[in-house]
Amino acid sequence: MPNILVTGGAGFIGSHTCVALLEAGYDIIVADNFSNSKPEALNRIKTITGKDLKFYKTDLLELEAVEKIFAENKIDAVIHFAGYKAVGESVAQPVKYYHNNITGTLMLIKAMQKYGCKKIVFSSSATVYGPVNPIPYVEDMPTSATNPYGYTKLFIEQILKDVYTSDNEWSVSLLRYFNPIGAHPSGLIGEDPNGIPNNLLPYICQVAVGKLERLGVFGDDYDTPDGTGVRDYIHVCDLADGHLCAVKYVLKHKGVEAVNLGTGKGSSVFDVLHSFEKACGKQLPYKVLPRRPGDLPAYYAKTDKAKELFGWEAKYSLDEMTAHSWNFISKNPNGL
Ligand SMILES: NC(=O)c1ccc[n+]([C@@H]2O[C@H](COP(=O)([O-])OP(=O)(O)OC[C@H]3O[C@@H](n4cnc5c(N)ncnc54)[C@H](O)[C@@H]3O)[C@@H](O)[C@H]2O)c1
Repeated sequence: MPNILVTGGAGFIGSHTCVALLEAGYDIIVADNFSNSKPEALNRIKTITGKDLKFYKTDLLELEAVEKIFAENKIDAVIHFAGYKAVGESVAQPVKYYHNNITGTLMLIKAMQKYGCKKIVFSSSATVYGPVNPIPYVEDMPTSATNPYGYTKLFIEQILKDVYTSDNEWSVSLLRYFNPIGAHPSGLIGEDPNGIPNNLLPYICQVAVGKLERLGVFGDDYDTPDGTGVRDYIHVCDLADGHLCAVKYVLKHKGVEAVNLGTGKGSSVFDVLHSFEKACGKQLPYKVLPRRPGDLPAYYAKTDKAKELFGWEAKYSLDEMTAHSWNFISKNPNGL
């Protein structure tokens, strides 16, 4: 079976993808510096799958360390998750974001070029559709960004397209994720962010276990069915399966493809909150706050391309996503 390098494999989406890869019989090598994850995630991946993986505690910013991974292993393809992801922090500390996300990716590409590995699946984001496109978002729409985090995704997409233009032997999959939530059904791995969470689901989880007083709902006067923001939430295990399909695709094809990974359905903040309340069996306190600058009223994916190219579509419902999130947080209230 092919050998896959997973950068950021100890993180939220990376750890679930490692499980999917190991279960499908791939050999995997994980590189992570634990800047936003813990070593315990790797033990849990092994517990779930009963399989082993090779690990390098490596910072992608260190070219020699990245090259060492390629020197010691024959790597057939890379899935590149490693990067910072907090939008607000990226506005406050843009250089930190540009340096880690872009320089880290450049070091990875340099090492890949040196060792002749030309297949990569990259974690992009729905954020590259920017603020003006109509919904649903389709892959060939114009892209733009409104904050440094979004620009890092946009620039890395462009860098990878340019690498392909310079060498048509490359195969690049730009996966544009919508809003990943949920956790592995075992409750052993899930989202375990450092500090106060930025995203809706981890925040609700912290309220549910009593660590945060109440949920802040940013705006209830949007032009949406219940006035709150609408997003395309996708189960992280569906996302992990999408990566499996993308890896199979890049191993067989050349070229660059941007592909949405979403469900194609929008859910509001209140939909998610009420679904979570059903899962945990209690009402959760919330307060409506002013809209956050930059937040869009609603967006969701057009998912036809993933179906056509990969034969992939999301399977889990919103209630399953919130039930699995609750299962994880109630079993791991203090994280991993
Ligand atoms: N979670 C989301 O909502 C979402 C949405 C769209 C795109 N993405 C992208 O998907 C990827 C994975 O997201 P996630 O939610 O799993 O995040 P995460 O923070 O849980 O995982 C990222 C992992 O990368 C590691 N990392 C960061 N910088 C590194 C470096 N320089 N060297 C080595 N390791 C490094 C972290 O320690 C962490 O384990 C990110 O690139 C993120 O921008 C996430």
